[in-house]
Amino acid sequence: MTTLGTPQTPHATKVMLLGSGELGKEVLIALQRLGVETIAVDRYDHAPGQQVAHHARTITMSDPAQLKALIEAEKPHLVVPEIEAIATPMLQELEAAGKVKVVPTARAARLTMDREGIRRLAAETLGLPTSPYQFCDSLEELQAAIEGTDGKPGIGYPCIVKPVMSSSGKGQSKIDGPADVQKAWDYAMAGGRVSHGRVIVEGFIDFDYEITQLTVRARGADGQVETHFCDPIGHVQVGGDYVESWQPMPMHPAALERSRQIAKTITDNLGLGLNDEPAGLGLYGVELFVKGEQVWFSEVSPRPHDTGLVTLCTQHQSEFELHARAILGLPVDASLRNPGASAVIYGGVDAPGLVFDGVHEALAVPGTDLRLFGKPESFVKRRMGVALARAADTDTARANAKLAASKVRPRQP
Ligand SMILES: Nc1ncnc2c1ncn2[C@@H]1O[C@H](COP(=O)(O)OP(=O)(O)O)[C@@H](O)[C@H]1O
Ligand SMILES: [Mg+2]
Repeated sequence: MTTLGTPQTPHATKVMLLGSGELGKEVLIALQRLGVETIAVDRYDHAPGQQVAHHARTITMSDPAQLKALIEAEKPHLVVPEIEAIATPMLQELEAAGKVKVVPTARAARLTMDREGIRRLAAETLGLPTSPYQFCDSLEELQAAIEGTDGKPGIGYPCIVKPVMSSSGKGQSKIDGPADVQKAWDYAMAGGRVSHGRVIVEGFIDFDYEITQLTVRARGADGQVETHFCDPIGHVQVGGDYVESWQPMPMHPAALERSRQIAKTITDNLGLGLNDEPAGLGLYGVELFVKGEQVWFSEVSPRPHDTGLVTLCTQHQSEFELHARAILGLPVDASLRNPGASAVIYGGVDAPGLVFDGVHEALAVPGTDLRLFGKPESFVKRRMGVALARAADTDTARANAKLAASKVRPRQP
């Protein structure tokens, strides 16, 4: 698209986001700035992104009939999945029928909607290095996968069990020995998004650090798709959920090169169009584990990544602006502006309509900024905001981001 329209007129450029959380909200703001007409869809009313879009729609996105009806009624130029739990086979059907263009592609959304599609693609089709893994449908299968059967060695201990459909560490736990297996299985069954009882068990990778390699497929001057890499983002996860990230993460040059090769391989594949023509414009978050010069592929989001919130204060174009520009077919600049960090602010309580004390003190920390997402309801472990800090180096930025986050005190009014 090189021509953009005016919102709410017959020639508007219309984009629909499926999922309108804090990441979707920033994508929507970036689209708004380009005069795009936006439709924010979520499963509940007043989701963060719905608060900044032209239109808010609330449906069950995993219901193919509801999804089809909404897309056919709104007729957006682009549909942008922002979460995993979507009826992606329906998106594939609508895309194949030429009724809609899905970002980056409906196939990418489908392959990444659960851990199985993407892991098998990465490890078995593309031959990328990953942790050893198996998929299991029962406690007995899980035990056999870990311990081994018929003389075949198992994955062993320690290992990690995750529901195939889950995110942000939900239902995920580490198993250190036989005594933990039952507990991990029960926890996965309680924490999965849909209760179809399938898990992945992965060998534990004793990495030095993990990164997100943000990778952008954008249209170049000659119309061909070009791949751009952001500087690597380092992050810390607690219980499978991101609590802190920073950019740039210093890396051994060989590990950085390997990371980018892996990122290019997986995004090239996810970017394949219907007839193998180049497609799949947009930003991807490739998660990698690094030990010395060795790199393992972990997973990929075909959309902005939570650890990439840091780019709001570190890059000339944040990951959200990069995504907005790339999906519209516009050129991008993925370069770093200055070092920075992000630190998550959790709700800390189960309650609707929180108030946030300490905002003045937080923003008095040098070089900081805040995003309060505006989620109507808080849970103890729900991400309600993030503190951002830019500085001359990432150590200072990390300290300041954490300090600013700690000053914000969410509470019941
Ligand atoms: N095989 C593994 N070995 C070591 N750590 C892991 C492994 N799998 C996951 N983790 C840790 O748990 C985090 C979340 O796991 P991930 O697979 O990314 O789940 P999610 O989809 O919920 O983000 C990772 O970022 C990493 O810190
Ligand atoms: Mg992850």
